[in-house]
Amino acid sequence: LPELVFHSQLGPSRVWLGRGGLETLCRAALDLPAPRLLLSETRVARALQRQQEELLERVEPQRLILPAGEGAKNSANLLTVLAEMAALGMERGSPLIAWGGGMIGDLGGLAASLWKRGAPLVLVPTTLLAQVDACVGGKTAINFAGLRNAVGSFWPARRVVADLDALASLPREEWLSGFGELLKAAWLSDEAWARELEAGGEELLRADHPALERHVERALRFKIAVAEADEREAGPRALLNLGHTFAHALEAVRGEGLRHGQAVLYGMLAAARAARMAGVAAPAEADEMEGRLRGLLRRLGLLPAPELAALPRAALLKAMAQDKKARDGRLRLVLPERPGRARVEEVDATLAACVWEEWGRLLR
Ligand SMILES: NC(=O)c1ccc[n+]([C@@H]2O[C@H](COP(=O)([O-])OP(=O)(O)OC[C@H]3O[C@@H](n4cnc5c(N)ncnc54)[C@H](O)[C@@H]3O)[C@@H](O)[C@H]2O)c1
Repeated sequence: LPELVFHSQLGPSRVWLGRGGLETLCRAALDLPAPRLLLSETRVARALQRQQEELLERVEPQRLILPAGEGAKNSANLLTVLAEMAALGMERGSPLIAWGGGMIGDLGGLAASLWKRGAPLVLVPTTLLAQVDACVGGKTAINFAGLRNAVGSFWPARRVVADLDALASLPREEWLSGFGELLKAAWLSDEAWARELEAGGEELLRADHPALERHVERALRFKIAVAEADEREAGPRALLNLGHTFAHALEAVRGEGLRHGQAVLYGMLAAARAARMAGVAAPAEADEMEGRLRGLLRRLGLLPAPELAALPRAALLKAMAQDKKARDGRLRLVLPERPGRARVEEVDATLAACVWEEWGRLLR
């Protein structure tokens, strides 16, 4: 596979994608001066114990293991990482190696961006979601004061080593979560690719699937192209939020247990309905989109979803009004015209209320 490069305004971010990435990772780490810090979390350290031990042996970084899960993406752990970097006496040029899913990537990325105003970041994404999406584009963040991703920076990784073999231990719900973001990328860019993913469905959700590499590569290329065109999210990058405003509301009200990319799949269904209501999608196109998404959700075992259908409408609406992109009773939504094409539309919040009114029927 060719190496992919995200040409950030802050310098090139080189992405290696393949199988058996340890050699590449060791070389990338050794290219940067000691002392080095390996940041990971408990579940990843257990699942990839052998690989991490080999890195420890060959590269001799200090290792810091945080608790697993979104709850660990907080300010206390950010300070823990920075304190470790200080204790190690890390130079400006020595790397932080963030080895884990999007949680570790976001937190480690923020710490790296802050340390001496910017230390090199090596990202080793270990979830499908992190490999198809979070590992490029340069966004870092922690959750703060009850707000998700409230404190963050733009700090692209110097080097990304995405090893598909690392996905072998992923639980099914994490596969589904990554698949949601993968399908979103296809729905934003290429109808034929979207159909291929929908037909693949459940089949695709395993580390040794021969087509996986191609799909991850396409998603990375797509994300890189969008991020390069609009690194600071002033315009077109907002398209990446297809399904996300609805998804965030579902996640906020449903709480733990609904993984992000799964919420995105449901959110895309809601967005298709909203597109019909807003006149962005013609009725025939909207019928087709809803039919395809519902069929896919059913094949993945995500429909019917009585628990999600029963979430209180008022709470969902309130969560949407608190979205970063909401202003004065208006919402900026990404609405699909058809698979492969979407646009950003400012709509009245009452439109979202109408979608949630029909939500129960959509999820049957
Ligand atoms: N920076 C960005 O552009 C960007 C984009 C999308 C999402 N995100 C962020 O990423 C996070 C979500 O990412 P995520 O889903 O990877 O979360 P995560 O890092 O919490 O990983 C999800 C779960 O999978 C486990 N896990 C990770 N790798 C594993 C492996 N190889 N084997 C077994 N278990 C493994 C983790 O312990 C965790 O329980 C959120 O915080 C989100 O805000 C960032």
